[in-house]
Amino acid sequence: MSLVIPSTDFIKEETHPSLDLFFEISKLKKEKNAIILAHYYQDSDIQDVADYIGDSLGLAQQAQKTSAEIIVFAGVHFMAETAKILNPGKKVVLPDLRAGCSLADSCPPDAFAAFKREHPGHTVISYINCSAEIKAMSDIICTSSNAAYVVDSVPVETPIIFAPDKNLGRYISKKTGRDMVFWNGTCMVHEIFSLEKIARLKARHPGAKLIAHPECEKPVLEQADFIGSTTGLLKYTINSNDSEFIVATETGILHQMAKASPEKTFIPAPPDNSCACNDCPHMKLNTLEKLYLCLKNEKPELILQEEIRKKAEVPILRMLEISKRHGL
Ligand code: 13P
Ligand code: SF4
Repeated sequence: MSLVIPSTDFIKEETHPSLDLFFEISKLKKEKNAIILAHYYQDSDIQDVADYIGDSLGLAQQAQKTSAEIIVFAGVHFMAETAKILNPGKKVVLPDLRAGCSLADSCPPDAFAAFKREHPGHTVISYINCSAEIKAMSDIICTSSNAAYVVDSVPVETPIIFAPDKNLGRYISKKTGRDMVFWNGTCMVHEIFSLEKIARLKARHPGAKLIAHPECEKPVLEQADFIGSTTGLLKYTINSNDSEFIVATETGILHQMAKASPEKTFIPAPPDNSCACNDCPHMKLNTLEKLYLCLKNEKPELILQEEIRKKAEVPILRMLEISKRHGL
């Protein structure tokens, strides 16, 4: 782990139930020159208090250009880590440091180093959902909104390792026509959608469009009317003339979809069992109260070893440059 884990994962402090957290957070933000960056998978309360809500690419771009002194990152660990990699001089805090990611966890640095040794001469493209150590071992980072451009930027004769999400990798391989070697990782949220239940839902809502995140498994993606990153999915629902959508991604995005198009209907794609598995348990560790406490106490803070940070910054900057070139 590059991270020096502080003694606390999140601040445990009683807040009076009558405290207006929305008001207190806005006040503290101004006093401390802090910015709140939130991913679309956060609770709607957190989205409503954020200065910027976006997908992984948008969040990295905002982190790169912010002049705030403190970045409160309402998302998961690898996202806050990316913000810190781009901002070594700023304080980056996360409401709950335990907010991890099954994809990032699927790719431990030692095993990945061995995997790289088995595939010499390959360019390593890593999905941003990985640890700083994996980023430091990568040539270019990508997100779900720029992965095809990143793959296309590698000369055709150069073989590619794509890690850690094999579902996104396979989808991008098909899209770009490039053969790639995949790391065997998946997102625990996007691999549980039930094709059978989606088919039943479509029968009941014949006009509904199935829209899916590329982290979903191949059979779901094959049935989808549109595939895109969270920002891509949101834009699609705004611009589409259709009025009903079955949404195969984490449920947090439905908040912005319903806000942007209140006249349209958004149905979360059902998981293959009766749990609320399309809520990401990591994303949902953050709460408005923890966000308030983390802003107030400026803890827990993300700390990175400078050697790892510097190495991890190079492939992130490459990604940001490629995205800019393509108008993203
Ligand atoms: P995007 O933010 O790129 O849409 O990815 C979704 C995701 O799973 C983030 O963890
Ligand atoms: Fe990771 Fe999946 Fe949660 Fe995103 S939704 S943070 S990829 S486990």
